[in-house]
Amino acid sequence: MTQDELKQAVARAAVDYIAPRLDSRSIVGVGTGSTANYFIDYLAEYQSDFDGAVASSEATAERLKSHGIPVYDLNAVGEIEFYVDGADETNERLELIKGGGGALTREKIVAAVAKTFICIADESKKVDILGDFPLPVEVIPMARSHVGREIVKLGGDPVYREGFTTDNGNIIIDIHNLDISRPIVMEEKLNNVVGIVTNGLFARRPADLLLLGTSDGVRTIE
Ligand code: 5RP
Repeated sequence: MTQDELKQAVARAAVDYIAPRLDSRSIVGVGTGSTANYFIDYLAEYQSDFDGAVASSEATAERLKSHGIPVYDLNAVGEIEFYVDGADETNERLELIKGGGGALTREKIVAAVAKTFICIADESKKVDILGDFPLPVEVIPMARSHVGREIVKLGGDPVYREGFTTDNGNIIIDIHNLDISRPIVMEEKLNNVVGIVTNGLFARRPADLLLLGTSDGVRTIE
């Protein structure tokens, strides 16, 4: 199977998992990226079975609306039962690197609110130790040089993502060669750097369920 077919398979598996658990008041949190896009397309088949969605990016909001799925502001909703999103890397403990698409801040917020975070990923994303994928951090533009120096102190190599502005009007720095053998510790260190809005480590709040697309089928890891 191609990587794209594996993404479609896990997106379908996520819809199969949540659809029977939705009711007319349910709000679904929806992530960003190509895997999440397949999820949106399949979720649209069930739009009469739930109330609407909260989007983790402008792009996701547009795609949801194009299917006629109502999109709510997070502040206007009570609970979010499920948040479904892809990842750039996951380890066995379902700690993740996210933000390849630059939507990490809103993704982390919606994941924090949701009762159940379901990660959908093809098998290329599964690693023993996080960090081969450069770790994205969203940064307030005026803090770019300061944050770069702090990242070097932490042992990483900061690379400014040229020509990219987040939905929140900020920039992204991708951190290469960072030692992420202790993901929670590194997430907290980066949380303490003034000027970083959000880092792409999802370790303090990992996924609850991973649907991993493999050539032998979709594996469920909890
Ligand atoms: C966006 C993300 C995505 O979930 C991540 O980049 C995976 O994307 P894809 O499903 O296209 O492989 O974190 O900010």
